[in-house]
Amino acid sequence: MIVRSWLFVPGDSERKLSKGEGNAADALILDLEDSVSDDRQDIARDMVRDYLQARPDRSQQQLWVRVNPLDTDLSLPDLAAVMPGAPDGIVLPKVYSAADVNTMGNYLSALEAREGLDIGATKIHCVATETAASLLTFHTYLDGVTDRLVAMTWGGEDLAAALGASDNRNPATGDYDDPYLMAKSLCLSTARAIDVQPVGVVFVDFRNLDGLRAECLRDRRAGFFGKIAIHPAQSEVINEAFTPSEDEVAHAQKVIDVFEQNPGLGTVGLDGKMLDMPHLKQARNMMAIVEQIKAGNS
Ligand code: COA
Ligand code: MG
Repeated sequence: MIVRSWLFVPGDSERKLSKGEGNAADALILDLEDSVSDDRQDIARDMVRDYLQARPDRSQQQLWVRVNPLDTDLSLPDLAAVMPGAPDGIVLPKVYSAADVNTMGNYLSALEAREGLDIGATKIHCVATETAASLLTFHTYLDGVTDRLVAMTWGGEDLAAALGASDNRNPATGDYDDPYLMAKSLCLSTARAIDVQPVGVVFVDFRNLDGLRAECLRDRRAGFFGKIAIHPAQSEVINEAFTPSEDEVAHAQKVIDVFEQNPGLGTVGLDGKMLDMPHLKQARNMMAIVEQIKAGNS
């Protein structure tokens, strides 16, 4: 299954947990971190584990858990509590470098052995830009990271706090300031370099679905695939934005056909436009995504 929409659900909210099931989100991220207050951490761990154990069939919706960061003493108890529920994956926040992701991979191996799960079954999605150091360590992912890592997203809120900023946007335009655009670009290029899914950042203005749609399309044009949601109404919009339209699919098929009809040619003309290898690659990528979406929805 290819995950377009990843919906955060506070792990201690009975109401929201029940609302998540049946929501259009391809994956839920049951949260044990920032949306849970410290005095409710134990309750949330139990609720998340029970929720996972009651839903072993993940064919319609994957179930992930965001644990607390590795530099707190909450992360290991979070993991130990939820692994009996065999989550599809762990969302790891506030990483400093690829070393954190590899450490998480080792913890998961131990807990998978304890639970009798296949070693390596639990995937990782890291939030790659929430510490100041993280902006300087992206190269570490290219030096070797566990193949549990399948997705990477970025964040501008915790990063603003880490950088000592009072705001992360230009008040005149509403656009992200330079450090956040750098974080976004580094996340995208690193994810593509190591062949993991680059996931678009949360869109916090959750009542503004038109704004969300526009940002999804901008993310998609740039190379991101999928987006994090914080409200159930966002999932449908995200799914739609990341599903290639009929026109796009028809065009991609035409590009593939014209190259197949002209074997040996590196450049061809279609509808008055020049096409070369990058266009063929884009067309094939799009068809692969369409197939994966179809497979996930069947
Ligand atoms: N997951 C599942 N259900 C959710 C939800 C979520 N993330 N956010 C809201 N809902 C539910 C509400 O409980 C409500 O259902 P109900 O009428 O049965 O109670 C319904 O959807 C409509 O919610 P609404 O009233 O529009 O929003 P709200 O004011 O209750 O909540 C937020 C707004 C932002 C607090 C809420 O969306 C939320 O908790 N989001 C997740 C925050 C989070 O996890 N942050 C960490 C990652 S950045
Ligand atoms: Mg907390």
